[in-house]
Amino acid sequence: MKGTVVIIAGASKGIGAATAHAFAEAGAAVVVASRDQEALDGVAGSIRSRGGNALAVRTDVADVDSMKALVDRTLAEFGRLDYAFNNATDGPRPAPLADIDPVEFDRGIATNIRGTFLGMKFQIPAILRSGGGAIVNMASLAGVNGVANLAAYVAGKAGIIGLTKVAALDYADQGLRVNVVAPGTILTHHLAAAGSEAQRLAGLASPMRRIGAVEEVARVVVWLCSEQASYVNGAVIPIDGGQAAGVKPSQMYRQGEPMRAVAQTAGGQHGS
Ligand SMILES: NC(=O)c1ccc[n+]([C@@H]2O[C@H](COP(=O)([O-])OP(=O)(O)OC[C@H]3O[C@@H](n4cnc5c(N)ncnc54)[C@H](OP(=O)(O)O)[C@@H]3O)[C@@H](O)[C@H]2O)c1
Repeated sequence: MKGTVVIIAGASKGIGAATAHAFAEAGAAVVVASRDQEALDGVAGSIRSRGGNALAVRTDVADVDSMKALVDRTLAEFGRLDYAFNNATDGPRPAPLADIDPVEFDRGIATNIRGTFLGMKFQIPAILRSGGGAIVNMASLAGVNGVANLAAYVAGKAGIIGLTKVAALDYADQGLRVNVVAPGTILTHHLAAAGSEAQRLAGLASPMRRIGAVEEVARVVVWLCSEQASYVNGAVIPIDGGQAAGVKPSQMYRQGEPMRAVAQTAGGQHGS
């Protein structure tokens, strides 16, 4: 990716910061954006200290002028834009739907749906002028399936999947690919703060019986932007250890037999 430029919106921490490092390691110049200038400066400084090229631009993804200014600043600094990763999220704390404050609901929709729309609105012309490239948007397994207590988040992520498909179709014949990733549970500061038992329980929901690491998302995002994925467009890519594929029960019943544990398949053994 030497000579290319990527914008990462929502890059001050977590998956966004890890993906910024991954793009820098692949040789791209990285523009990191979010609301927290100090945290962004930390990410950009860490990339530079490892020999990469990074610019921190304070940005609110829900604000039209701010998102336009992010792309303008990128072009002024680097003269081109090849890739973008729209990763920001915000919204209400989990609660049953009728308990959600409408203002909080709007904040979730504004960050996820409006933020992704505004990101692509200004990124697309810049990428096309640079000769084409790729955009990756951040959804979630919670944008594919419902999750109780997450009305704004699920609606926002489902909306991002819809936006991605339309953008992919709109520009498919112009050298721009647009895809969306849908991670399961990934270890970031949210789950780190919840503690090891919360992490273990979250891991049990995945067929691989563990949660994911930020690097496992970052690598997929870089791959989707690379030439290795040159015919992948409009796709919803799960990064979830198989969770979207279905269920892997730890208990099974067989006709006429009491419930018993299913042996794990290590050593090729099935059911006991
Ligand atoms: N962690 C998981 O298990 C998981 C699973 C599936 C999907 N995801 C998705 O992955 C993405 C990153 O998750 P994470 O766990 O790394 O979360 P995180 O650490 O909370 O990151 C969210 C990022 O969004 C930025 N942001 C929020 N509102 C913004 C706004 N109005 N304008 C600009 N930036 C804004 C935050 O930066 P500032 O506060 O500095 O603005 C931060 O950099 C999210 O879209 C999330 O929904 C996460």
